[in-house]
Amino acid sequence: MGEAANLLAKSKFAIAFTGAGISAGSGIPTFRDSEGLWRRYRPEELATPSAFQKNPALVWEFYRWRMKKILEARPNAAHYALAELERLGVIKAVITQNVDDLHRESGTKNLLELHGNIFRVRCTSCDYKENLKESERLEEFVSSKDLPRCPRCGALLRPDVVWFGESLPSDVLERAFSLARKADLVLVVGTSGVVYPAAYIPYIVKEGGGRVIEINPKVSAITPIADVFIRAPAEDVMEELLRKVRDFIENGSRQRERLKTL
Ligand code: OAD
Repeated sequence: MGEAANLLAKSKFAIAFTGAGISAGSGIPTFRDSEGLWRRYRPEELATPSAFQKNPALVWEFYRWRMKKILEARPNAAHYALAELERLGVIKAVITQNVDDLHRESGTKNLLELHGNIFRVRCTSCDYKENLKESERLEEFVSSKDLPRCPRCGALLRPDVVWFGESLPSDVLERAFSLARKADLVLVVGTSGVVYPAAYIPYIVKEGGGRVIEINPKVSAITPIADVFIRAPAEDVMEELLRKVRDFIENGSRQRERLKTL
């Protein structure tokens, strides 16, 4: 923990890369753990363009159920610690694979959502988009059983998330890769690191000579390239990590003050 905090405090341009595990402590199921969504449901029936074409009602039932679960959840200590690390100027951006909006809710400002956001919907035909969190009809939308239609053209609405077989939003992906090329450290939290192109992020940082710190209770596909591996649930350790980073920063500035007065 001390080494991770020291590296973070000394970094010039650190970024965070997060996955479903950071929200596990908020009660949101991950995808590939024993209780994970893809252990209980078949992604090809729920999270692909052809599944939506075949059975939009089933896909919408799944997404409305997830929206409900997420609306009951609150950010946990790990989300708040990341937001505070950004406020301190240590973390420059959070690149997430999550669609749950909890980073934004916890106060993260520079947030890149690689797989979209479950509270945004878009039209399957025209360019209509809506952020349900900013709309009065969120509750009604989530509890409705009807297929949602575009208020502009009447076509079906779909969740503005990335499904299997679809491309990531190219502007977000380009910004994420460019941040990774610039970064001298990446804090990887709660991802299995098996879904590409998102999982390239830590490798780009490593190949550019940067450090990789990982927080995960289990070994992941990223662990072999981690310089520091904190094997624990993120919500249990990130507050302490934040405290230690603050100590390093404060000690560093005290030392600089002392040197100035010599
Ligand atoms: P996964 O379910 O693949 O991996 C979750 C990771 O979180 C695992 O490595 C767990 O060990 C770890 N984990 C579990 N509890 C944790 C905790 N309390 N603290 C820290 N880590 C914990 O989820 P992702 O890696 O996010 O894509 O999956 C990547 C993508 O696959 C998702 O964005 C989604 C999914 O299909 C799309 O929907 C496009």
